[in-house]
Amino acid sequence: MKRSTPLVAGILAELATGERRKPRLARRAIIAGLGAAAVLAPAMAFGQERVVNVYSSRHYDTDRALYDGFTQATGIRVRLIEGDADQLIERIRNEGANSPADVLITVDAARLERARAANILQPVRSQVLEGRIPAHLRDPDGNWFGLSKRARVLIVPKDWTPPIPLARYEDLANPALKGTVCVRSSNQVYNISLAGSMLAANGAEATEAWAKGVVANMGRPPQGGDTPQIQAVAAGQCRIAVSNTYYFGRLAASEKPEEKAMADGLRVVFPNQGDRGTHVNVSGAAVVRNAPNRDAAVAFLEYLTSVKAQEMFANGNFEYPVVDEVNVHPVVASWGRFTEDQLNAVAYAKNGAEALTLMQRAGWR
Ligand SMILES: [Fe+2]
Repeated sequence: MKRSTPLVAGILAELATGERRKPRLARRAIIAGLGAAAVLAPAMAFGQERVVNVYSSRHYDTDRALYDGFTQATGIRVRLIEGDADQLIERIRNEGANSPADVLITVDAARLERARAANILQPVRSQVLEGRIPAHLRDPDGNWFGLSKRARVLIVPKDWTPPIPLARYEDLANPALKGTVCVRSSNQVYNISLAGSMLAANGAEATEAWAKGVVANMGRPPQGGDTPQIQAVAAGQCRIAVSNTYYFGRLAASEKPEEKAMADGLRVVFPNQGDRGTHVNVSGAAVVRNAPNRDAAVAFLEYLTSVKAQEMFANGNFEYPVVDEVNVHPVVASWGRFTEDQLNAVAYAKNGAEALTLMQRAGWR
C-alpha cells in the first residue's frame, strides 16, 4: 500500500487508545458507524458477530480484497450475494421488509436510479460520503453514491488520421466517418446513459438526429460488449470503438502478449474536451430501505471512499477513483488527464428511457 488510510487508521487508533478527543472527522465517522466496533457493541449481545449483507452486481475478482479490507478495519464481516443488477433489485423487492440486504452495489447510475425508483433504497446523510464524493457523482437526496468512475471514450488506431477532427461525441454522426464506427447495442445501459447525457446537452431533436447519423456510420451492426468493439478496430473492421475506459485498460495491461500488442496500436480520444467534457459513469452503492444492519451499511459505504479502498478500485479494475487524492493506475495515467462532464448522474439516468426510445427510433439496434 502506497499510503495510509487516514480515516480508518484514525479510528483504529482511537479504538486502540480509548482516546475521546479526536479531530471532528474521526469522531463523526465513529458516530456514523465506521468505528462500529465501539459504538454498536453495547447494544449487542456479547460475542454476537457483526455483519453487513452486500448484494453486488460487480463481478470483479479484485472486489473481494475491498471487502476483506473493510472486515480488517472494522471487524464487521461482509456477506456477499452476487447477481445480475436487475435480478438483485427484483430479489430485494420480493424480500420486502424481511430482506437481509443492507447494501446494493451496481454499475451505472441508470441502474442505481432504477433501484431508487423501485423504492428499495433509503436516503443516507453522511458527511464522510458527502465530503469525499463530488456532488455530480451521487444522488443529491443521498439514495445512492458513486464510488468509482468510468469514462466513455473513443478508441482509434494510432496510425489513423480521421478525415475530420475527431473531438466530440457529436462527430460520430458526421457523414465523413461513414463505415468507421463500432458501438454496442442501444439498449445497453452504458449507451443509454451516454445518450441521456447528450439529451441533456443538445435536446431530443438533435439527439435523435445524432443517433441516426451514428447508425449510418456503423461499420457493422451492434454486437457484443465494449471489448469486441475495440477488437474490431484492431482488426480493421472499424476505425472508432466506443468503449468504457476500463475495458481498454484491461487490454493495455494484459499479460497476454497479443492483447497488449493490440492495445499498443490504439489510442484513447477523450471527447468534448473543448466544451462540456467527456461523459463519465459510476459504479456505486446504496443502503437498502429495510437494511437490518444500517450502521454497518453506512460504515461500509464510507470505507469504500477511504484511500485504501479507492486505490483498489483504481488498481483492480482500471477505474477512476472518485476521491481526488488517489492516483489512477499507471496505464490509465498514460492516457493523460481529461475534463469530465459535470452533469449530475441523476440527470442522465433520468433521461435514460427517452434516450433509448430515440436511439431505437433511429434504427440503433
Ligand atoms: Fe462494464
